[in-house]
Amino acid sequence: MTKRLAGRKALVTGSTNGIGVAVAVALAAEGAFVVVSGRDERRGGEVVARIEKDGGAAVFVKADLSAGAEVIDRFATDALTAAGGRIDVLVNNAALLLTPTPTAEVAQETIDEALAVSVRSVFLLTGLLAPPMAERGHGAVVNLGSIAGLRGSARSALYNMTKAAVHSLTESWAAEYGPHGVRVNTVAPGPTLTEKVVSMEERLGPIIARMPSGRAGTPAEVASAVVFLASDEASQIHGATLTVDGGFTAV
Ligand SMILES: NC(=O)c1ccc[n+]([C@@H]2O[C@H](COP(=O)([O-])OP(=O)(O)OC[C@H]3O[C@@H](n4cnc5c(N)ncnc54)[C@H](OP(=O)(O)O)[C@@H]3O)[C@@H](O)[C@H]2O)c1
Repeated sequence: MTKRLAGRKALVTGSTNGIGVAVAVALAAEGAFVVVSGRDERRGGEVVARIEKDGGAAVFVKADLSAGAEVIDRFATDALTAAGGRIDVLVNNAALLLTPTPTAEVAQETIDEALAVSVRSVFLLTGLLAPPMAERGHGAVVNLGSIAGLRGSARSALYNMTKAAVHSLTESWAAEYGPHGVRVNTVAPGPTLTEKVVSMEERLGPIIARMPSGRAGTPAEVASAVVFLASDEASQIHGATLTVDGGFTAV
């Protein structure tokens, strides 16, 4: 059977850890050549090795997404070069997960870094990589939002704001790039058991208790949704938010 992303080139930001690793592995398993990225070269190399061991193809390109336009520009160029001049699928996954903190106690450096990594880099990178997709008339951008971007919660205003921004960007980019063949969508996970989240799992109890599924999700479950939205199976899906939250936002 033909793999769903055979011949496609994908870039996954923040794929040295957590959900991004699962997304990179799942895209590669469907035949995509994957540019793995993040700041940590060692972990990035391990993800590439894992993909290659499974018969896939990947390369690591280092990036610090807290940096400004010049660095993001160089990163986009490096990623394009590593992928042979073309990116067909951009997964904007990297973000700063923040410890819940009262608004008045959030330091300005934290606000700046969260906005830089979780919003500004997404904006800049998409502005660099979606137009060439539009010129070719084909491409997909999948943004990682969150149920945290869909509703309010105390002591999480900064994180929630960054995720709400991502949801908004998806809708504006669906309008901007969709008519040129580039589909832009959001996957909005609920609590997902990455290493970091496992360490605070007990705090998730009240959320999990409200979820019809009765449990937190796995990175692989989020990755399945990303692969679907990146593939031609989702050809009529533009500007959508696919929640992968065990039903939390529905009930
Ligand atoms: N886990 C959840 O429960 C959950 C729920 C809803 C939504 N989400 C969303 O899903 C996405 C992934 O979350 P996760 O839980 O997998 O996060 P994670 O485990 O903290 O991983 C974050 C990734 O982002 C990269 N990153 C962080 N700062 C960076 C920077 N300055 N420059 C470049 N890369 C950077 C990290 O790579 P390096 O360390 O190598 O830099 C890492 O690969 C995020 O958008 C998050 O908002 C997660």
